[in-house]
Amino acid sequence: MLNLLLIVACYLLGSVSFSFIFAKAFKGIDIRQHGSGNAGATNTLRVLGKGPAILVLALDILKGIGAIWIARAVEPDVISIHVLCGLAVIIGHNWPVFFGFRGGKGIATTIGVMATLCFMPSLFAGIIALSLIALTRYVSLGSLVFAALLPLFIILLGRPMEILIASIVIGVFAFYKHRTNISKLLQGKENKLGASNK
Ligand code: G3P
Repeated sequence: MLNLLLIVACYLLGSVSFSFIFAKAFKGIDIRQHGSGNAGATNTLRVLGKGPAILVLALDILKGIGAIWIARAVEPDVISIHVLCGLAVIIGHNWPVFFGFRGGKGIATTIGVMATLCFMPSLFAGIIALSLIALTRYVSLGSLVFAALLPLFIILLGRPMEILIASIVIGVFAFYKHRTNISKLLQGKENKLGASNK
């Protein structure tokens, strides 16, 4: 019962959509009606600018870290609970109960979750993803590569099976949530970082 409450609490934590809250508070707009329509840090950069975007990115990452810390505090030795809490916070971010189940794409929160669950695999995947973003200016491409590489580095570095399974589920979420980005990337129409676009 306690564990179920814990997972629900992590889902609720994930459901706090900082990009939505900031866009409403600073500009009185629904961020999901602007830019790419995504409630995330990249779209916050487009719609609100650098400062709010950095703040949203940090807070979304912290949601992921926070969920794993809470899980570890309550159940220090049960990796499956840590993993379920990590998935719950990402699901909350992607499909938030407070905002009509229309949230973000989960990458910043995934960074927080996975960096806390398995630091080195996340670091390696993150370095490659960031390099790709720097080269191409496509945040979505970096996000997808990050999600795709996580399971690979988790296997290579011998992390627990529960974490591997979580990374595969997270990868499915990431590719599903980025389906519009994928089709735009394939058509050469994806928004580049720094471009004023939609
Ligand atoms: O993490 C979100 C990013 O990969 C893409 O965001 O707003 O360009 O669809 P956006």
